[in-house]
Amino acid sequence: MAVDLKNLRAEFRAIYNGEPRFFRAPGRVNLIGEHTDYNGGFVLPMAIEHETTVAAAARADRKIRVRSVNLNEDGEIDLNAPEQKMRGSWLDFIEGVARILERQNIKLRGADLLIASEVPNGAGLSSSAALEISVGLALTEISGQTVDRVALALSGQKAEHEFVGAKVGIMDQFISALGRKGHALLIDCRNLEAEQVPFSTKDVAIAICNSNVKHKLASSEYNTRRAECERGVELLKQFLPEITQLRDVSIDNFEKYESNLPDVIRKRCRHVVTENARTLRAAEALKQNNLEDFGGLMQHSHASLRDDYEVSCRELDLLVEIAADCKGVLGARMTGGGFGGSTVNLVRRENLGKFIERVPAQYYNQTQIKADVYVSNPADGAKEVKSSEM
Ligand code: GLA
Repeated sequence: MAVDLKNLRAEFRAIYNGEPRFFRAPGRVNLIGEHTDYNGGFVLPMAIEHETTVAAAARADRKIRVRSVNLNEDGEIDLNAPEQKMRGSWLDFIEGVARILERQNIKLRGADLLIASEVPNGAGLSSSAALEISVGLALTEISGQTVDRVALALSGQKAEHEFVGAKVGIMDQFISALGRKGHALLIDCRNLEAEQVPFSTKDVAIAICNSNVKHKLASSEYNTRRAECERGVELLKQFLPEITQLRDVSIDNFEKYESNLPDVIRKRCRHVVTENARTLRAAEALKQNNLEDFGGLMQHSHASLRDDYEVSCRELDLLVEIAADCKGVLGARMTGGGFGGSTVNLVRRENLGKFIERVPAQYYNQTQIKADVYVSNPADGAKEVKSSEM
């Protein structure tokens, strides 16, 4: 599934006339723990086998010249010139990561970059995090510097906040930087501690169904949800003065005080509080290889995102309903921010073939939209690929 490095090297030589090193970072699928990261809560994503690859070589000056193979576009950033933010293009991610790394005293050299990605865009599989983390790692390494993986993830997140204008949580960058083959990662998004949870996909597969829709609401509603959660904390503080984020609210405490909240805020808070509990239970179930329980929790997560958090849409609900009707499906839910993008499905291997046939066919019948299905094992986080591995 990987980008062909020999082709990438040939193209790099033709454009820049130099020898590149190669760096990769994966996209991700979140198994459970949705819209909890910016509430200081728990998430359980895994890195996927679809990744972004950067061919990179240092330059003598402080310019970053960059070409995207997928978009067939070029750009240039001068690290000695004033910062440029929110152009509204993919260059914001590159400039953002570079500038934020430099603010952490990682002095960068100029670079020639050629980028190729197989993480589908707009599918809710974090193509942006894969871009930020692969470029961040490449720029650091070719400058002869090292960056701690958590700091690398935080640089990607900060780049999104400041240079792209998206107030995302830390999940996507964290898993892209720190994922491990054969594992899901339970992340405590408050203290940024994480636990690798072994996840064998010998008997079950992770199938990702891309709805191929992306509703316009996605980014404005994301920010609205964040604000609604913060409002919930303010209101609950009257009764629970010690809390700072919804992460601090137990289900018991929530049930005690929820009647004091306006209807919409109450529903948003209920999702976050119950989703945190579900995520911890799911991690336990995974450790015990209890995939039936795990799947059941995924199903509840979807219902909560649909009814309480209201970030699903007709297409995602339909994909989940069709999947739930298929033999061998242990769990199905929307994954990522919502309002389109993908669902994640836990499917018994022996039923996978039928699943891949049936879900897109039924989805097409009802929507006239073609869905894509990707099957992926849990993959490694960002790394350099040495020529010997080519
Ligand atoms: C997007 C954001 C993440 C997270 C999810 C929802 O993917 O980038 O930080 O908030 O939405 O769980």
